[in-house]
Amino acid sequence: MNIGIIGCGNISGIYVKNFTSGLWPQVTLRACADLDPAKAKAVADAHPGVEAVTVEELLADPEIGLVLNLTLPQAHHPVGLACVRAGKHHYSEKPMALNTDQAAELQREAEKHGVRVDCAPDTFLGAGIQTAARAVKEGLIGIPVSVTGHMICRGHESWHPAPAFYYQQGGGPLMDMGPYYLTAMVAMLGKVRSVQAVNRKTFPTRMITSNPLKGTEISVEVDTHITALLDFECGAAGTLVTSFDGVNPGLPPITLSGTEGGLRVPDPNIFGGDVVLVKNKEETILPHVNAYSENSRGLGVAEMAEAIENGGTYQADGDLAAHVLEIMQKILSVPPV
Ligand SMILES: NC(=O)c1ccc[n+]([C@@H]2O[C@H](COP(=O)([O-])OP(=O)(O)OC[C@H]3O[C@@H](n4cnc5c(N)ncnc54)[C@H](O)[C@@H]3O)[C@@H](O)[C@H]2O)c1
Repeated sequence: MNIGIIGCGNISGIYVKNFTSGLWPQVTLRACADLDPAKAKAVADAHPGVEAVTVEELLADPEIGLVLNLTLPQAHHPVGLACVRAGKHHYSEKPMALNTDQAAELQREAEKHGVRVDCAPDTFLGAGIQTAARAVKEGLIGIPVSVTGHMICRGHESWHPAPAFYYQQGGGPLMDMGPYYLTAMVAMLGKVRSVQAVNRKTFPTRMITSNPLKGTEISVEVDTHITALLDFECGAAGTLVTSFDGVNPGLPPITLSGTEGGLRVPDPNIFGGDVVLVKNKEETILPHVNAYSENSRGLGVAEMAEAIENGGTYQADGDLAAHVLEIMQKILSVPPV
C-alpha cells in the first residue's frame, strides 16, 4: 500500500527512516506534506522516491491509500476527517483526538467512507509489552491483582524545538504519555471500567530552555500532575501517575502483581526492554516473544496496511485507541477534591 505523511516535524524522522529502510515491504512511503512546505521538502530531498506535496495534493492523489497523520494533537481530528472524507485510511499519532466525541465522529465518518482509522502508540506491539502480555495470558503471575505505572519528568521544554503544544488542550502528561502506559495496561489486562483521580497544575507557566525558542514563556492550559486509580474489568486495581512537574526518584515504569508472581515491565514508550518475572523469590528475565526491540515506529501502520490488503484484524486498532482516550478523558474530568 502506498502511504503519505502529513506533518513533517520532530517525530516524523523515525517513521520516515523505518518506512524507507525496507523494514515493511507491505508499505511504500510516496509523499509527505506539512503546513510548512520547507519541512516536507527537507524530508523529500533526503529520501529519493518520496515527493513533497501540499496537504490538498496528497489527499487528492489516488495512488495513496493510507495517510499517517503526524501533526499536533489539536490537528489530529480535523486532518483525520479530511483524510477519511478523501477516502484514505488514517493512522494518527496519539492522542486519537481531543475528546471522545471527536474520536466517535472520526470512526463514524471512516465507516461511512469505507476506510479505517487507527492510532499510535504501536510501542505495545514491541517485544517488551507483548512478552509481558503473553506472560499474563499464560498465567505466569496467577490472577492479576494490581498494576502500577509511573511517568514522571519535568516536561519537554528543555529539548523539544516547539514544546508549547505539550501544555495546551490535547497535551499534558496524561494525553501525551498516558497512551503508552494505558495501551500497555489494556493490552495486558483488558478494559478499564471506572476511574478516580487527583489532578494538579504545579506551574501556571513554563520557560522554554531549548533552541530555537529559548527564553519564551509558555502558558499552561492543562493539568500537569495526574494521579489516577484504574478499576479493570478483570478485577485488577491500577494506579497511574503521569507528571511533567516532578523528578522521578526511581519509580519503575510499569509493575504487575499477581496471586502467584509479579512482573517488572519495561518503559512502554520503547519497543524492547527486559520483562522480569518475580516468582518464588527468584527473578527471571523472560525471553522476548517477537523481534521488535528497536525503535519500530510504523509497525502499527504496517500491520494495519497488511490487514486492509489481506483481510484480518490487528491490535493497534481504532477501538483500542478510543477506549484509551475515553479513560484519559474521564481521569481529566474528575473534579478537584
Ligand atoms: N516528538 C516526539 O518525541 C514524539 C514522540 C511520540 C509521539 N509524538 C506525537 O507526534 C505528534 C507530532 O509531534 P512532533 O514532536 O513531531 O511535533 P512538531 O511540532 O515537531 O511537528 C508537527 C508538524 O505538524 C505540522 N502541522 C501541524 N498542523 C498541521 C496541519 N493542519 N496540516 C499539516 N501539517 C501540520 C507542523 O507544521 C509541524 O511541522 C504529536 O501528536 C506528538 O504527541 C511526538
